[in-house]
Amino acid sequence: MTNLAVIVLAAGLGKRFKSSLPKVLHRANGLPLIHHVMSSVVGLEADPVLVVVGHSKERVIAEVKGRWPRTVFVDQPEQLGTGDAVRRCRESLDGYVGPVLVLNGDSPLLRTGSLLNFIEGHGKSKAHVSLLTARRRDPTGLGRIVRDAAGEFLRIAEEADASPDEQALDEVSTGIWCFEPASLFQALEKISPDNSQGEYYLPDAAWEIHSKGGIIYTVDSGDAEETMGVNDRAQLADASRELRARKSEKLMAAGVTIEDPGATYIDDGVEVGPDTVIRPNTYLEGYTRIGKGCTIGPQAEIADSVVGDGTEIKFSVLRQAEVGANCSVGPYAYLRPGTKLEDGVRAGTFVEMTRSTIGEGTKVPHLSYIGDAEIGKRANIGAGTITGNYDGETGIKSKTIIEDEVLTGSGTTIVAPAKLGKGAVTGAGSVITKDVMSEDVAVGVPARPVRKRKRRPKVGSANKGGKRGDQH
Ligand code: UD1
Ligand code: CA
Repeated sequence: MTNLAVIVLAAGLGKRFKSSLPKVLHRANGLPLIHHVMSSVVGLEADPVLVVVGHSKERVIAEVKGRWPRTVFVDQPEQLGTGDAVRRCRESLDGYVGPVLVLNGDSPLLRTGSLLNFIEGHGKSKAHVSLLTARRRDPTGLGRIVRDAAGEFLRIAEEADASPDEQALDEVSTGIWCFEPASLFQALEKISPDNSQGEYYLPDAAWEIHSKGGIIYTVDSGDAEETMGVNDRAQLADASRELRARKSEKLMAAGVTIEDPGATYIDDGVEVGPDTVIRPNTYLEGYTRIGKGCTIGPQAEIADSVVGDGTEIKFSVLRQAEVGANCSVGPYAYLRPGTKLEDGVRAGTFVEMTRSTIGEGTKVPHLSYIGDAEIGKRANIGAGTITGNYDGETGIKSKTIIEDEVLTGSGTTIVAPAKLGKGAVTGAGSVITKDVMSEDVAVGVPARPVRKRKRRPKVGSANKGGKRGDQH
């Protein structure tokens, strides 16, 4: 698409939200409303894209700029209405000729294709103004389209100003407009805030253009849901539900099984590989990436984490964690930021981990706290093993190093800093205060080495991969 300018109105607070956060920053399915609107606009390849900001403008600008750096921000110091907001864009559009698409920043369900059709229709119609309309069973809160006896567009009656007869009309304005800039900015000089809200209404510009003989072209959008504006938290929940359904449909079409899409909450930014099964009551949030052939849930809450292929996660919480391929997590594990599980790791029941790396094939099956630890490959961490990483007197956190093939007995407490050398073994209930040498068996409180480890003969390769069971 060439030659298109877009104005997104995002300066309002959103009084009906009863929030200190501006409305366009409230999240629908994980992303701020303004994000969804910008995503639907980006495919239009418009230049410039203007966003009118006012309330908490720094936060709104920060949210948009990071992702859409070419956006032009227009300041609306006082929220005097949608007409005033558009008028503020005049300077930024100086010298621009071509259609101007105007959208509300609170319409998160818009699809790029529908906007393209609308703009194309506007071009063909040769109208001065095009307006996307909708029919609503419940038009409450929206501007009603008032037509004359012949069915021609007359004007828009805002809810607050509409007579009872007008309020009964079910044809409404979606707030999506296409204007020709010359007539738009001329008309905006003429409108007055002479209405029950004391605001400059953008719809009055259409009335002004129309009354000077301009052509108004109205297009019925058909899908009323797509054009919905989010004015309160109930509508935010409705929009979230719809966005969630769309996300689930997209993933299912790409080969992901979602057992119950109505009970699955996958943010728009999340990626899931094919042949993964998502079981109910699962939340995948932020920039989470799930691999192929995984089973996630029931009841998993995974935020900003990466999960490798073939991994199973159930009844667990993960935040900024990295989990390799073919791991098993849960039930009831909590992997906190900085946890990294290499391939084939098991983090089992009632296990909490943070800022720790767990080497390939290692098992931490039950009741453990692992913090600030580096654990090698094929280790078996016995039930109730705890890394005492925190010195309550100094406030210092120290590291625990556990090398490959270490076995810790049930209830081992490691007072960090400490290192268990390769193949070392600790007895049940031992308290490790000093490093344990490779292959040593250490027992007691505090633990001391008593002998060298007796290794079991290696099981034959035919048994490899067979279940040996956990050793603790
Ligand atoms: C608006 C329309 C209404 C339409 C509806 C569709 C007007 C007067 N009313 O009503 O005809 O049916 O959208 O959803 O245009 N904003 C500013 N500056 C302001 C005021 C608002 O930037 O001074 C922004 C808001 O942040 C919001 C958008 O404009 O993103 C629309 O404002 P809102 O208050 O939601 O208008 P509605 O009452 O929904
Ligand atoms: Ca609105």
